[in-house]
Amino acid sequence: MTTWQAICAVHDIPVLGARRVARPQGLDVALFRNAEDEIFALLDRCPHKGGPLSQGMVFGRSVACPLHNWTLDLCDGQAAEPDEGCTPAFAVQVRDGQVFMDAAELATKATDLTRPIAGPARRCGQAASNAA
Ligand code: FES
Repeated sequence: MTTWQAICAVHDIPVLGARRVARPQGLDVALFRNAEDEIFALLDRCPHKGGPLSQGMVFGRSVACPLHNWTLDLCDGQAAEPDEGCTPAFAVQVRDGQVFMDAAELATKATDLTRPIAGPARRCGQAASNAA
């Protein structure tokens, strides 16, 4: 049986914006609110290079990553073509203006995913030693 955990009120999430939900383990989850007051939840990590989706621009049922503008579907976290990748989506319920998430999913889903670590810096004109 699912245990639904109260997270916040719908109005605590900015319209066309997001609010981050911290977890004991793993990266934050981003709660998004679109213009129709629909609420969505994705791991706050772009599948491209780990950008913070919570700082992206919400439009329709999509969010544009703030780093390189990939578009992700807020329903399932899937990147729009031609890009490829997916960020984990989380179950959300809205009841009486309150946002709830599946407590078990929030505690365990995708807790192994981390942000990518930037590689070593190079000076301009310096060749990469292991260029692919
Ligand atoms: S990190 Fe999101 S588009 Fe590049």
